[in-house]
Amino acid sequence: MQMVKDKRSLPRHVAIIMDGNGRWARQNGRPRTAGHREGVKATRAVVECCADRGIDILTLFAFSSENWRRPQDEVTGLMSLFIEVLRNEVDSLHENGVRVNFIGDRDQLPSGLRLGLKEAEQKTAANERMQLVLAVAYGGRWDIVQAARRLAVAVSEGKLDANTVDDAVLNKYLSLGGMPDPDLLIRTGGERRISNFLLWDLAYTELHFTDTLWPEFDSSDLDAALKFFADRERRYGKTGEQAAASAKSSA
Ligand code: IPE
Ligand code: IPE
Ligand code: MG
Repeated sequence: MQMVKDKRSLPRHVAIIMDGNGRWARQNGRPRTAGHREGVKATRAVVECCADRGIDILTLFAFSSENWRRPQDEVTGLMSLFIEVLRNEVDSLHENGVRVNFIGDRDQLPSGLRLGLKEAEQKTAANERMQLVLAVAYGGRWDIVQAARRLAVAVSEGKLDANTVDDAVLNKYLSLGGMPDPDLLIRTGGERRISNFLLWDLAYTELHFTDTLWPEFDSSDLDAALKFFADRERRYGKTGEQAAASAKSSA
C-alpha cells in the first residue's frame, strides 16, 4: 500500500471504532478476553503508526456506554485490562511525545481506572507530538446529554444567555469541545454503524469501514484508510466546483 505523503491530504483527526476482538477470539478458539488482549497489541502499533504518519489527534473507542450490558466477567476483565495497559504504556507514550486524554463517564469507572487515567493525563499534559483521546464508558448520546445539562445549569445560574446558544456554544460543552472534528472515522470488524460513538462530531467525517478484525488491523490497513481519505472530495454541502476552488485557494 502506497503511503499518503502530502500532509494536506492527511486527516488531522482520526477516530477509530476498534471492533472485532470477540470474533477474532472465536475464530482462533480462544476466550473473548484473549481477543481483547490481542486487540491491545494492534492498538499499540496503530498509535505509533499514526504518530509516525503525522496525525495530530487519534480518538479510540475502547468501551461504550452500552458495553456495560456485557457479561460481568467480560466487563471486569476489560476494566482490569485497561488499568494494566495504562500502567504499562504511559511511560513509553510519554517518551514518544503523546498527550493522553480521556472522554467518557468517569463516575461509572472503577476507582483504579479513574486514577490511572488522571495520572496519564497529568503526566503527558505538555506533550505535543500527537494527542491520543481514549473513549471509555463513552456514548454519543451521553455526551450530548451531559453537555445539555451543563449548559442548562450555566443558563440557570445566569452565566449564559439562552438566546446566544448556537452550534459553537453547544460544541464547547461536548467532550471533544475545542478540538477539530474527526476528519476520518475507521470502523473495523465489518459492521457499518456508528454504535453511539461521536454523534455530533462525526457530522462531516469521512467514514471508512473495513472487514478486518481489530486484532489483525495493521499499518497497511491504516494506510489503506488514509488513501481512502486522500481520495475524498470534502464538499460540506457546496458544489464540487466550489469545493475544488476552495481546496486550490487553501493549497
Ligand atoms: C470491540 O470488540 C471491543 C469492545 C467493544 C470492548 P468486540 O468485543 O465488540 O468484538 P466482537 O464485535 O464481539 O467481535
Ligand atoms: C462499539 O462496538 C464499541 C467499541 C468498539 C468500543 P460494539 O461491539 O459494542 O458495537 P455493536 O454492539 O456491535 O453495535
Ligand atoms: Mg463488537
